[in-house]
Amino acid sequence: MIPQSFIEELKMNCDIESVVSSYVQLRKRGRISTGLCPFHSEKTGSFTVYPESQSFYCFGCGAGGDVIGFIRRIENLEYVEAIKFLAQRAGMNVPEDAAEDKTALLKTKILEMNREAARFYFSELMAPNGKNALDYLLGRGLEPKTIKHFGLGYAPNDWTRLTDLLASKGYRYEDMEAAQLSRKSNKSGRYYDIFRDRVMFPIIDLRGNVIGFGGRKMSGDGPKYYNSPDTPVFKKTKNLFALNFAKKQKLERLILCEGYMDVIAMHQAGFTEAVASLGTSLTSDQCRLASSYVEEAVLAYDSDEAGQKATKRAIGLLDEVGIRAKVLSIPDAKDPDEYIKKFGGARFKKLIEQSAGSVEYELSKIGAKYDTETPEGKISALKDAVGLLADMKNPLEREVWAAKLARDYGTTKEGILTQVQTKIKRRARAEGNRAVLGQSAQASTFGGAVPEKLRNPASASAEERLLGSLMRNPEALSTVSTIVSPKDFVCELYGLFYEKLLSTLSTGFEVSLTLFGGDFTLEQQGIIAKLANLAREHRYSAEDAAESAKTIIRFKEKKSDKEIGELSGAELAAYIEKMRKAKK
Ligand code: UTP
Ligand code: MN
Repeated sequence: MIPQSFIEELKMNCDIESVVSSYVQLRKRGRISTGLCPFHSEKTGSFTVYPESQSFYCFGCGAGGDVIGFIRRIENLEYVEAIKFLAQRAGMNVPEDAAEDKTALLKTKILEMNREAARFYFSELMAPNGKNALDYLLGRGLEPKTIKHFGLGYAPNDWTRLTDLLASKGYRYEDMEAAQLSRKSNKSGRYYDIFRDRVMFPIIDLRGNVIGFGGRKMSGDGPKYYNSPDTPVFKKTKNLFALNFAKKQKLERLILCEGYMDVIAMHQAGFTEAVASLGTSLTSDQCRLASSYVEEAVLAYDSDEAGQKATKRAIGLLDEVGIRAKVLSIPDAKDPDEYIKKFGGARFKKLIEQSAGSVEYELSKIGAKYDTETPEGKISALKDAVGLLADMKNPLEREVWAAKLARDYGTTKEGILTQVQTKIKRRARAEGNRAVLGQSAQASTFGGAVPEKLRNPASASAEERLLGSLMRNPEALSTVSTIVSPKDFVCELYGLFYEKLLSTLSTGFEVSLTLFGGDFTLEQQGIIAKLANLAREHRYSAEDAAESAKTIIRFKEKKSDKEIGELSGAELAAYIEKMRKAKK
């Protein structure tokens, strides 16, 4: 068996858009790309590639899946062959037979040790020994409940406290080293704590696992922050600090900032949609992650030159995944943390509301792309600009920018607005067509693979909603697993999908389309891709997952109404308990 970790890495290296482009001529339409489906014959482009979720779906024939599924279909290969094919393309070596279990075990161990460490750091912060650190945090304006909420801590000024503690709990030194919590001394050969005399910021993933730490020193020279290096459970470039908290609400936008303290100060002031990259500049993986949740981000970087440079870069990266960027300018303070401390949350809110859109920036990019001295260049630039205006929801906003464009390009505002209207109408028509196509495709493909859906459309759709929202909110899995089990599913295939998702709870692997590669047919993978994409369109949250789990149980109970007389006392009690849980 090929290790799941390798498959995930392979997928990171095989961008679906570029792989598909070798076979299909794709056209970019906002955040997606479309083209003529290579799997059935058609004249309109129903074949859609979603770069954010790295998946494809054809609204005409229902083919869909991840990049591996695409290669399987188009090259007509078995699963493992398709992986080898892609690995060769990416210049990667497929590992011979796997230490899969070993990796999974180590991952679990590391997560356990991280949790122990976070607990230890927190208790040290609250102990007399941590008084300095606690005073430091309080002095920076953090309330005790904020400290608790983020699980902040203190790594004592000692060499082996954590290492000893972990050893006393039976953990092996090599594993502590793999977790980047301890290191072996060259001189003595003994292991010692990596984090010492630092205020600790646990980094928590979307499932609530502690995956790493940032540690800030309170005095002295040397780097201010030390962050856990990458470990088998932690990739700095693929996580966002505090996304686990931000995600607890229906998100309209994210606020992206530079530092741990900025995020924490913002959350404390009520801006719970603030997140930060982790001791690195923003990466495209982080943008992709963000794009599963929002279409807009406010950039709240430091007001210094470096921060401004980072802002420019971030706008470009966000643009690539279809996130609109707004830029916050922070007057009279070096970063959001300092601003909030100086002027308060209410003033900060005003700043956010005033944050300038990136339209100006986009238009300047379009201007630079063409030679606007020539008529041809002008026309091309205007065409792109019309597309940009057609994206705007507010007619007033369109009007303002049309006026500016007219001035810049020596044409009339009315002319531009007419073009914009035409474009909007054309798009609406295209989308309408796609939606209709989508429905019929759903009925036909799902009909074959999910025969139960015909007779139980309502419970089937609750199951679809559950699966989709779990793909997006894997942290809801552990709660949902206590409500509903695969046996409760009306649709057998959906039950199998659910079982697969549940398996990630014990193996620690990420929830993504790759999970469904090995054990499912291409048609079935198409269905799961479709469900994942629907969930993203509807922005299903963890609450949606819990809600649909309860709905599934309710449907199940209804059926059992008839049979209720035949239940034994114990069975009846179990049912009532389940019912109570479902209604909660
Ligand atoms: P800043 O230097 O802007 O620090 O670094 P800050 O967030 O304002 O920190 P405070 O307010 O002084 O505590 C921004 C981010 O860059 C990373 C950290 O993630 C930090 O939050 N960084 C900074 C490091 O990783 N190492 C460093 O030495 C400094
Ligand atoms: Mn700061």
